[in-house]
Amino acid sequence: MAQPSFTPRVFSGIQPSGGLHLGNYLGAIKRFVDMQNSGLNGQSFETIYCMVDLHAITTWQDPATLAHNTRELCAGFIASGVDPEKSVLINQSQVPEHAQLAWIFNTVARMGWMQRMTQWKDKAGKNSQNASLGLFAYPALMAADILIYHATHVPVGEDQKQHIELTRDIAAKFNNDYKVDFFPMTEPVIEGAATRVMSLRDGSKKMSKSDASDASRINMTDDADAIAKKIRKAKTDPDPLPETLEGLEGRPDARNLVNLYAALSDISAEAAIAQVAGQQFGQFKPLLADLAVEKLSPISSEMARLMQHTDEIDRLLARGAERAREIAAPILAETYKIVGLVK
Ligand code: AMP
Ligand code: TRP
Repeated sequence: MAQPSFTPRVFSGIQPSGGLHLGNYLGAIKRFVDMQNSGLNGQSFETIYCMVDLHAITTWQDPATLAHNTRELCAGFIASGVDPEKSVLINQSQVPEHAQLAWIFNTVARMGWMQRMTQWKDKAGKNSQNASLGLFAYPALMAADILIYHATHVPVGEDQKQHIELTRDIAAKFNNDYKVDFFPMTEPVIEGAATRVMSLRDGSKKMSKSDASDASRINMTDDADAIAKKIRKAKTDPDPLPETLEGLEGRPDARNLVNLYAALSDISAEAAIAQVAGQQFGQFKPLLADLAVEKLSPISSEMARLMQHTDEIDRLLARGAERAREIAAPILAETYKIVGLVK
């Protein structure tokens, strides 16, 4: 069936369940800013970016910390270049249509689909009987976040690919069950040298806010000394950097640092290895540390400045929610009509 045409629209979200780290910045936020300012492959987009606080509470959050993290994430978005005039910047719980559509999607998605989600399996672990029902239903809420705006493109890190595929499955089953062509088949946008930033202590694990070791990640609130120290201490091997990317095969820690260098310099991994070929880590690490400090310090100081004015952040979010609801409310109303919910 020919797809009806949908407004090119980007949606993406980040959980305010901890501080932002370099993986979030390079894998997600930096891409959000690129899509806001330059679009993708010659196409421009409306952009909507979200702090997904309702997702965060699928595992218990201390209330005061959650509120702080939500505002700090908002500050992180803005400090990184998300412009609240150009993009619609929102906190999920302030736009009730997300949760309303999620309920309908809970009736569309199948238990078996949810059980296959690797994030569910990782997060629920062995004790899945004791995980919250919300954690299990998490991907249906994520599909609602995206589809309540008929978003066509979703920039994310590699780890979210399966959830976007599930979003398409939900859209397709809804369209099929109700004999409509209402929800788009959303495309994931997983591009760049840093779609999967790895831990600085173990190149086989992704950089994550849940890693017990703070040395494994660079936090967006780290100061210059902390950033330089973590890079100096990053795990590596004794060999110099090779001439080509193939030479990095089987060297995940070295590959990770080259990817970071590429992503922070806005060049491809191929171009990065050409620049640093033959260097020892004793030479390369200070170069990478300087680059990281140069790129990240202005962001962390701007975040700190914005956090002095949380009333301003709250005002921006209230305004964002109003703009978002202008798009979301008619789509929810139409969904209710399709399903036969009497208004
Ligand atoms: P989360 O912090 O899990 O809500 O993730 C927010 C965004 O950051 C998502 O688009 C993730 O795919 C992305 N992300 C998280 N960790 C990494 C990582 N280590 N490398 C690249 N992207 C990441
Ligand atoms: N699940 C995503 C993560 O953990 C966060 C998220 C929630 C999201 N809703 C979304 C990402 C919608 C993209 C689009 O990173």
